[in-house]
Amino acid sequence: MNRQLLYRSGQLYEFTASDMRALLQHARQANAPRGVGGLLALRDGLFMQLLEGPAPVVDALFSRIAADPRHCEVRLLVRAERAAPLLPDCPMAWAEAPPEDGEALAFAELQTDHRALAQLERAGDDPVARTLCAFLDGASVPRGGLVPAFAGGWA
Ligand SMILES: Cc1cc2nc3c(=O)[nH]c(=O)nc-3n(C[C@H](O)[C@H](O)[C@H](O)COP(=O)(O)O)c2cc1C
Repeated sequence: MNRQLLYRSGQLYEFTASDMRALLQHARQANAPRGVGGLLALRDGLFMQLLEGPAPVVDALFSRIAADPRHCEVRLLVRAERAAPLLPDCPMAWAEAPPEDGEALAFAELQTDHRALAQLERAGDDPVARTLCAFLDGASVPRGGLVPAFAGGWA
């Protein structure tokens, strides 16, 4: 079984494009050999990230991510078990929502992963896929978790 985590957070640190590229490069290099994958989405200074992979690895990674000072208000939305990942072979896809007022993307040089977005679209009524697609489409962002608050460790 695969662990699936979905969280949201606020961008705290003022990322430059090269910071964001370095974050993604680090994530992909670290995630791939551990069998971890998912998608990092950004909209209006808010992140939503899907993490999938072996349960102990994903839980340990989320503990590190939750303590990362580059973002704040990390709220876990979903912690679930799945037979198969939503985004197989995807060490960490990237997607930035188009700004509403026609402004340029903050990170236009980072390629949105349309293959991953198409996989989410194909997932039909899957609640995690729907939540990610709705986030990128501008829906209001859930503030609370669908699971008990993360308290720095798993029971
Ligand atoms: C929004 C966000 C998403 C991140 N995603 C990942 C990730 O998918 N994989 C990863 O290894 N680190 C990710 N990180 C970085 C971790 O928080 C942490 O810096 C990293 O795991 C430390 O790795 P190290 O112990 O190898 O230095 C992310 C950080 C932020 C702020």
